[in-house]
Amino acid sequence: MHLAVLVMGQANNKLTDQIPIVEHVVTVNNDKVSFSVDDKTLLNCLEKNNIDVHYHCRDGFCGACRVTLNKGQVCYPNGEPLAFVGDNEILTCCCIPTSDIKITLE
Ligand code: FES
Repeated sequence: MHLAVLVMGQANNKLTDQIPIVEHVVTVNNDKVSFSVDDKTLLNCLEKNNIDVHYHCRDGFCGACRVTLNKGQVCYPNGEPLAFVGDNEILTCCCIPTSDIKITLE
């Protein structure tokens, strides 16, 4: 299903505007994994790919899942998190990539 969406998007620019691209490449240190909307959060995606990430609340309160965003963009579908987020930092438990991204885990 995801491949069909991507092919349709590439074949017709008008469809690209109407159908969101549902997968993005996530580069973690030197590894690459694929985020799918089915993952629901970046943290779920990282866990699915056996990438060890710190977390606690999984709801944007504690900041334990904070990582450095080196490239790309994310959004917080359920609103801005309450935990402090510095420049170039994101909270993996409550964000989703809106482009291909590159992150660094501490
Ligand atoms: S796990 Fe608590 S803010 Fe992400």
